[in-house]
Amino acid sequence: MTSTPPTTAPDVAIPGREVVAELRRTCEALAQRAGDLVLQMRREAVDVAATKSSLTDVVTRADLASEKLLTELIEELRPQDGVLGEEGARRVGQSGLTWVLDPIDGTVNYLYGRADYAVSVAVVAGDPADMTAWRPVAGAVHAPVHHRTFSAGLGLGASDGDRELRVPPAPELAQALVGTGFSYDAAVRAWQGRVLADVLPRVRDVRRAGAGALDACAVAAGELDAHVERGLQPWDVAAAELIVTEAGGAVRHDRQDDGSIVTVITSRDLLGPLGDLFAHASRDV
Ligand code: IPD
Ligand code: CA
Ligand code: CA
Repeated sequence: MTSTPPTTAPDVAIPGREVVAELRRTCEALAQRAGDLVLQMRREAVDVAATKSSLTDVVTRADLASEKLLTELIEELRPQDGVLGEEGARRVGQSGLTWVLDPIDGTVNYLYGRADYAVSVAVVAGDPADMTAWRPVAGAVHAPVHHRTFSAGLGLGASDGDRELRVPPAPELAQALVGTGFSYDAAVRAWQGRVLADVLPRVRDVRRAGAGALDACAVAAGELDAHVERGLQPWDVAAAELIVTEAGGAVRHDRQDDGSIVTVITSRDLLGPLGDLFAHASRDV
């Protein structure tokens, strides 16, 4: 599997600084509201409402309730904007801005009572469904169990609560702690396992925490050196991508020959070596 070079985002209208700051605050507030809701629902019964792409790709009542709450609040606050939500929310707006929502990132962790899950809320300019052509302008990732809210605004930096985020200097590739994730599709998962077998001896170690957005925020916070995954979707990365780039890190979406995308999220210095490592490993399988 080979990759084409990343395309550069086309010119899209970016709102002014004040509007970006306001959008960032709204992202934080919405992610926290939805986070409170899913936390409360977790204390009651958690049940699978439906399966999606495969039997292991589940959606709980809380995913649906969280997305409903978010879309209702956005409709009230920003009726001129579009909406793209993982669980089906779709609205084309007139402003050129779209809210991209992951009502629970890490649903399998949520289902099992594990702590690593989050609500991700972002505003992007450009095509919200095309990660190679969009421009995230504001975003927040809120992890209710950890009481952490990561956020960023384009040109305004990134933070974890009150702490400003800076991606630390990159280690050598061989010392890098790399997060990854696996698809819900068994065939893609088998491919990912083979790629990982090649990558594993060449890095410090690999983590699979189960929430891609939180892994990306961990890169911004220096708690992971990279996250690399094939098949991440716009709602998984819209907010987290901005948090990483505003913290001084780098994100690349490499489109593969089969149309799938491999996303590399890391420090600027590791982007090339790590991207190459995964590209070579992918060619070998
Ligand atoms: C998933 C998580 C997981 C990643 C998958 C995502 P979901 O999101 O981020 O870590 O490996 O690619 O789909 O389904 O829990 O929202
Ligand atoms: Ca997700
Ligand atoms: Ca989700």
